[in-house]
Amino acid sequence: MTTSTADPVITVAVLDPGGGKETAAVISSERALRLVEIASDPAGLLDELAQRPASVVVVDTRALTPDALLGLVGRLRETTTVVVLGDQTDAALLSRAVRAGARSLLVRPYEPDELVSAIRDVAGGPTSTAERRAGSGAVVTAVYSPKGGAGATTVATALAVALAQTRPGRVAIIDLDLRFGAVGIALDLRGKNTIVDLLARSAPLDLGLIDDIFVAHSSGVKVLLSPETLGLADSVSPEAIARLVQTLRAHFDHIVLDLPTSFDDVATAALRVADRVLLVTTPELPALRDLQRVLSAAPDLRNGRSQIVLNRWPSRAGVPLADVERALGRKVAITIPSDGAAMTRALNTGVSVLDRRAGLKSAGRFRDLARLVTSNGT
Ligand SMILES: Nc1ncnc2c1ncn2[C@@H]1O[C@H](COP(=O)(O)OP(=O)(O)OP(=O)(O)O)[C@@H](O)[C@H]1O
Ligand SMILES: [Mg+2]
Repeated sequence: MTTSTADPVITVAVLDPGGGKETAAVISSERALRLVEIASDPAGLLDELAQRPASVVVVDTRALTPDALLGLVGRLRETTTVVVLGDQTDAALLSRAVRAGARSLLVRPYEPDELVSAIRDVAGGPTSTAERRAGSGAVVTAVYSPKGGAGATTVATALAVALAQTRPGRVAIIDLDLRFGAVGIALDLRGKNTIVDLLARSAPLDLGLIDDIFVAHSSGVKVLLSPETLGLADSVSPEAIARLVQTLRAHFDHIVLDLPTSFDDVATAALRVADRVLLVTTPELPALRDLQRVLSAAPDLRNGRSQIVLNRWPSRAGVPLADVERALGRKVAITIPSDGAAMTRALNTGVSVLDRRAGLKSAGRFRDLARLVTSNGT
């Protein structure tokens, strides 16, 4: 990986009871990174960091008990940015570490480039959701399924509604399915303005403009709709979308992006800009195969930022959970049951999927999903 001389150097510390040789070699070979210390135990690491702070700390889970790891991550996240590193068998623990405040995780075996990318990605961002809120703003969560109809829009809208329950007015959902967007239908909203109108405005993006263009949902979510006319999508560039999302961060605590099924430039730009990615699938072979392909094409989705949401599970004729996880090489973070007619009714009538009147059995799962996304304690 190359770097320009203008890039600031990222200081990195490593905790590895095994000496950290393999990690150190990767970090030292990268001009943009500077290894400031290698510690073999948590106490030693904290002592060293007090003398020489590092922007990123890579914590190897080997030889740390789960409690020690989670405690350490919780402590480090106050002052620095943590990447956790472990074996495939540690997957559940690594996910818990991310929930405790690690910004990324890496599973062995990894390519040297993946470690460098993980460090560079997290170094660019704030260290915790709490800091994001106080500093650079919203946590951005992209919801994606390469298979049509798997439930991405349902998950995205329900997540936004669940997040807004405790943060009314501070949650946005952006419909990035620019051709066949269905967020408006899912939330029973119509509006004359869409993302195309917002991008066409030259006025500074302040709350006045947001309230003018976004449509307010009764849940407290602010919704940026996609255009009604097919051809308008072509006028929107992936770069403009990435810039827009970054600018909007200042005005919200959470931004949810609902993506199109196509793995196109817009989807990949949105996946890149997101802090967290929810990959939605159903327990059927075609859906799993499509998601496998995406995971192979986008290695940065294999580690760290992304979580698998298994929709419409359990399913009588579907693939068993263990086989889903084996096929994807990943743990499923959350399962959502099929809610049949109740879900359709909730969406058709515009009654929020969390609204008690809808009587959904999946309502609790959507709240769990909101907790997963805000798991740094906000
Ligand atoms: N858990 C569920 N229980 C019942 N119905 C569901 C569930 N999840 C999704 N649906 C229904 O399935 C249909 C497709 O869902 P949704 O629009 O969320 O999928 P999508 O992945 O966004 O599809 P698209 O390819 O159109 O973007 C919708 O009618 C939705 O109400
Ligand atoms: Mg959709």
